[in-house]
Amino acid sequence: MAKRQPSFACQSCGAVYNRWKGKCEACGGWNTIVEETGSSNPMVGPVATRPTRAKGRIFPLEGLSGETKEAPRTPSGIAELDRVTGGGFVHGSVILLGGDPGIGKSTLLMQASAALANKGHRVAYISGEEAVAQVRLRAERLGLGQAPVELAAETNVEDIIATLTQGQPPALAIIDSIQTMWTETVESAPGTVTQVRGSAQALIRFAKTIGTAVILVGHVTKDGQIAGPRVVEHMVDAVVSFEGDTGHHFRILRAVKNRFGPTDEIGVFEMSDIGLREVSNPSELFLAGRDLATPGTAVFAGMEGTRPLLVEIQALVAPSSLGTPRRAVVGWDPSRLSMVLAVLEAHGGLKLGMHDVYLNVAGGLRITEPAADLAAAAALVSSLSGASLPSDTVYFGELGLSGAIRPVAQAQSRLKEAAKLGFSGAVAPAPRIEQANPERLPLAAASIGHITDLVAGIASRSPNRRRA
Ligand code: TYD
Ligand code: MG
Repeated sequence: MAKRQPSFACQSCGAVYNRWKGKCEACGGWNTIVEETGSSNPMVGPVATRPTRAKGRIFPLEGLSGETKEAPRTPSGIAELDRVTGGGFVHGSVILLGGDPGIGKSTLLMQASAALANKGHRVAYISGEEAVAQVRLRAERLGLGQAPVELAAETNVEDIIATLTQGQPPALAIIDSIQTMWTETVESAPGTVTQVRGSAQALIRFAKTIGTAVILVGHVTKDGQIAGPRVVEHMVDAVVSFEGDTGHHFRILRAVKNRFGPTDEIGVFEMSDIGLREVSNPSELFLAGRDLATPGTAVFAGMEGTRPLLVEIQALVAPSSLGTPRRAVVGWDPSRLSMVLAVLEAHGGLKLGMHDVYLNVAGGLRITEPAADLAAAAALVSSLSGASLPSDTVYFGELGLSGAIRPVAQAQSRLKEAAKLGFSGAVAPAPRIEQANPERLPLAAASIGHITDLVAGIASRSPNRRRA
């Protein structure tokens, strides 16, 4: 048998070393390596203690073709949540829900538990952070005090599994949070990587064995990663993050990984005094309170998964007093902004080198689509030239380094959503617009092929130019 060696684990990424180091070579974190006792890798724990066998058991190998069944699911009844999970909780699957403290994870899960329990399913809510009375108080505030959810404040994984395996298996078990759980098979303190990994593994085994869907709540560190073990992300079936900034009341549920559904769908909620309210038409919400006449704002017709989403992009371009002008972005990729600025300078003839540039996606939304390039460029040109853009027009298109505006997917859905919300025009790249059957176009779309067309179009609206 192998001699037990001291082991040191990085508390940020889970990398294991056999001696202490100041810096983790795997993730680059300083002072994150801590000595941990017990099995450093729970993966090998049970295997090492198993009696050795001379020969392995022979198992049948199967072909790709064969009988398949759709994974059985239990929908929560909260449409925005079901959209993200792919239609409900798959039996025996494990979801990791991450998010900043106070963003509303416990609130969302209490609402989901109550919805499921009210439909007659057995649901257990295990809180490792709050006392039973506190959880009850929250449920009462949410108007869910009467829902038949089974509640406990527990942190020992073995006790939790023993309790939940009694009687009919629950349809859903919530573990709030995985960082507070501890298992007897590991000797380290709760919250350490080894404990979190060991606890998660035991709970995953439990889910797979009895078919209960388990949701693990995971805390998120300052830089947005699920604290401690990234390894847990590999072990679970789905990783879902709950985002939003505390200054806004919109909350966005986004699947980062999903073995049983799409990863590009988002669920939109609004935090109110009686909990999270579903937002079934997010475009209206993100465009509410729009300032129509100010230069520097453009409406982007985006897509989040299969759902079109209209959102306002705001830009401010102002003369800089600094040697190196500021570039600040909220809700968009900063390197994407640098690229758009470079293209505007090189091919659009704009002089931005002496200007500070700020770009903001309204409502606290985060956009990852390249199709937002054109809307961002329009907002930037509008702010620099002082010409406001037509308030009834949406923009979308990807910008190439040559200044060409490239077509993007799902133009028809974007245009339809814009027409539904009262927009009457669109500026978008050419080919797809024409492909999209002009007779069926829901609104007047001006197709442009190059960034110079955009700059010229906006400059013709400039007040300076009209005066001249
Ligand atoms: P919570 O679900 O406890 O967050 P997490 O579990 O992610 O840490 O949510 C806490 C925040 O939500 C808190 O700041 C208050 C706010 N909140 C409301 O605005 N309305 C409500 O009905 C509830 C229950 C919470
Ligand atoms: Mg909580």
